[in-house]
Amino acid sequence: MKLTRSVLATSVMAMTMGAGAAQADKLTLYCSAQEEWCQVMARSFEEATGIDVDMTRKSSGETFAQIRAEASNPKGDVWWGGTGDPHLQAAEEGLTEEYLSPMREQLHDWAISQAESAGNRTIGIYSGALGYGYNTDLLAANNLPEPKCWADLLKPEFKGHVQMANPNSSGTAYTTLASMVQIFGEDEGFGFMKGLHANINQYTKSGSAPIKAAGRGESTVGIVFMHDAVAQAVAGFPITVVAPCEGTGYEIGSMSIIKGARNMDEAKAFYDWALSAEAQNLALQVNAFQVPSNKGAQTSDKAPDMSTIKLIDYDFVKYGSSDERKRLLQKWDEDVSTLPQ
Ligand code: G6P
Repeated sequence: MKLTRSVLATSVMAMTMGAGAAQADKLTLYCSAQEEWCQVMARSFEEATGIDVDMTRKSSGETFAQIRAEASNPKGDVWWGGTGDPHLQAAEEGLTEEYLSPMREQLHDWAISQAESAGNRTIGIYSGALGYGYNTDLLAANNLPEPKCWADLLKPEFKGHVQMANPNSSGTAYTTLASMVQIFGEDEGFGFMKGLHANINQYTKSGSAPIKAAGRGESTVGIVFMHDAVAQAVAGFPITVVAPCEGTGYEIGSMSIIKGARNMDEAKAFYDWALSAEAQNLALQVNAFQVPSNKGAQTSDKAPDMSTIKLIDYDFVKYGSSDERKRLLQKWDEDVSTLPQ
């Protein structure tokens, strides 16, 4: 694989000459995108640089909580992937490091605005729209009407047929909660989440688990990012992808350097590399159908076409703020998750 040699050369040279040279050659990567993509990113960076990568995949909310818990003695260097909201919260809480990468000029405006709204403590690496997918065989077998809208998922006949993740652990599910509040307003949005709760068969830890369950025929509907539903369909499972009729929210999948990272030079080398078109094209090897932030990276022709989806003007600054994220999650815990099913 060809890499952005100049960027790597600069970062790697700085690393071997720097005071941290004794610690060189390793990187602890916290990854919140899908496991296969995390693996290929870690392996390819190792091959490109010789730096050993110790990678752990955890969901966005879980990784945020871990970074906060480790703040006085940071163990991770870079947090790559996962929805942008908890990255923004980490920036606001001073848990991540400001960094201006020389790769910024190659990125779409949406990736840079994410950085600018957080004092350059995070940056956009991909984007994707929220939606859901359903198992066509199970839908037919259960005589269920074809769902097209968010509201369709509240129909009583969908009881026990819908799965989503828990918004505390999963960025996908937090995006769902924040999107409902933005689409329907706070009261109706929570009313929607309560109605949905009655039909939920399980809240999973990880965001994409519900559509994998639907692919395997263990649940009919999975509320996920549309690209995760496309990945199941491409893998051959009987999944239909839905862009809900009322409109939908989206994510700016993000990356941040952890404040006080022990391997700061390696962290910057990874950060620069991960913003290159070559590194972002690795997504295509693992059926990751997000839209990449590097203007020169390829978007798969199977990726959901964002221009045909009714996207809301998702307020990342508000819903990625510490107060609002905490408030919404607490309200969901108290008012929704405790209701009988
Ligand atoms: C999947 C999606 C990513 C998203 C991530 C969030 O991997 O493909 O686009 O950023 O989920 O994971 P989480 O488990 O936090 O919902």
